[in-house]
Amino acid sequence: MHGEVRGTVTADSLQTVLDHYSAGDWRAHRALVTGDVIQDDTAEAYERFRELLLQLKLRVHCVPGNHDFPDLMRPVCSRPPFSYCAREEIGNWLLIGIDSYVKGTAGGSVSAAELDRLSAIVADSPAKHVMVFVHHPPVPMGSVWLDSVGLDNGKEFLEHLHTLERVRVLAFGHVHQDYDEIHDGIRILATPSTCRQFKPGSTRFAVDDKPPAYRRIELNADGSVGGELIWVEP
Ligand SMILES: [Fe+2]
Repeated sequence: MHGEVRGTVTADSLQTVLDHYSAGDWRAHRALVTGDVIQDDTAEAYERFRELLLQLKLRVHCVPGNHDFPDLMRPVCSRPPFSYCAREEIGNWLLIGIDSYVKGTAGGSVSAAELDRLSAIVADSPAKHVMVFVHHPPVPMGSVWLDSVGLDNGKEFLEHLHTLERVRVLAFGHVHQDYDEIHDGIRILATPSTCRQFKPGSTRFAVDDKPPAYRRIELNADGSVGGELIWVEP
């Protein structure tokens, strides 16, 4: 497994991030993986991803990205302690993974069926607060090339989240850079990659010189959201 992104072996870079977590004192209750999980396009690559993440000894929630292969990913990432586009209630909070994968395109979309599934899960849950995670960005990043491969119905998706009234935070991947804004009361977060980053605000594809990263997200009982973005210097 030696797949690279711009000269960085993604599995090695992920291991560096996991080592940073293991060496620290902060402990998570769950891991969220927002897609584009592999660089070697094989079922074995998903098994390798599992082996790496199993070091955390956590339940791992996954959603697929445009670089994923759902037919290969789903079986591997549905076996405990991994979950694929799943729901889970923890205390006052409900977590839901949403599928935005569209075959044959780098961009994404949340289907009507997926919106219905989301509504039904929230309606069925007694949780006071909801966190949604998805691969593609529902908001423009201010980067011409990246905004051409975002969530094609991002506005509709955000409006849908507002109608559910209990969604406090939405996390996404795909953009390989930090994003942390509040849109009409919903905290919207993107976390940089565990590998190489993209240059914010660029017109054309451009790689940034920032290191790998992960984000600690703290879901408080009162519905507030804390945490910290962690850059992992080599
Ligand atoms: Fe992506």
